[in-house]
Amino acid sequence: MFTLSVESIASELKTKFIGKNIFYFDEIDSTNSEAKKKAAQGAAEGTVLVAQRQSGGRGRLERSFFCPPGGLWFSIILRPAFAPADAPKCTLMAAVAVVEAMKYFGVEAKIKWPNDIQLSGKKITGILTEMSASLNYINYVIIGTGINVNIDNFPPELTDTATSLSNELGVPIDLNFLLSNVLNETEKLYISVLNGGFADILQKWRQNSLILGREVEVMGVKSGENFIGKAIDIDEDGALLVKVGNEVRQVLAGDVSVRFKTGTE
Ligand code: BTN
Repeated sequence: MFTLSVESIASELKTKFIGKNIFYFDEIDSTNSEAKKKAAQGAAEGTVLVAQRQSGGRGRLERSFFCPPGGLWFSIILRPAFAPADAPKCTLMAAVAVVEAMKYFGVEAKIKWPNDIQLSGKKITGILTEMSASLNYINYVIIGTGINVNIDNFPPELTDTATSLSNELGVPIDLNFLLSNVLNETEKLYISVLNGGFADILQKWRQNSLILGREVEVMGVKSGENFIGKAIDIDEDGALLVKVGNEVRQVLAGDVSVRFKTGTE
């Protein structure tokens, strides 16, 4: 079994600032919650918090997230100079970074808008981006990522919908090497955003998308906002564009599932 070690993570880092400062926890409620505290206390851009397990892992839409030992549960603190309205696109950036990092292990995972990464039709990664901002200025963005790496058993309510890298590959994966790769990819992408905006990320997101060109069911944040259509693109705001008849709907928040003749993914 691979155990997390700050030294091992650092030994594979090729970054200038992401991961230069790493806080490791055997157990914590949520690395995102702790990252907020550290960011408010002035932690530097690129600070990373990683935990062996989380007792109160948080997901989108106030959901809890299953975070036993064997997974990678980590948060990155960023202090970008772009507008607060652009911050949600950090989720797309983080998703691309994870998918690119998994390619080093021969894994071709796909991104399901807005924040899931899937493999073999099951969720393997979730991303929760949170921020503190005033009207025109971002104080900090926290990108929290949970990757199911070496997890052999899921609770019954997750067995149909979640998988792990070790389940899919049949061997355990080096957590430290995977995290270093994700941090290396994240910094490359982040620097490209700071230099030239999100166009490059959006293009890479499209190339790694699970849903573009497919029929999806969109579950809106409020009940009664569900509809079915064809996912055709994401726009420059990171919103999903779904064609329903002749109309194109812009989806800014919610969940999607891919529809098959026999069910959903
Ligand atoms: C989701 O799929 O809804 C998002 C899940 C995000 C989980 C990660 S694990 C590290 C970080 N800390 C948290 O409490 N949540 C994120």
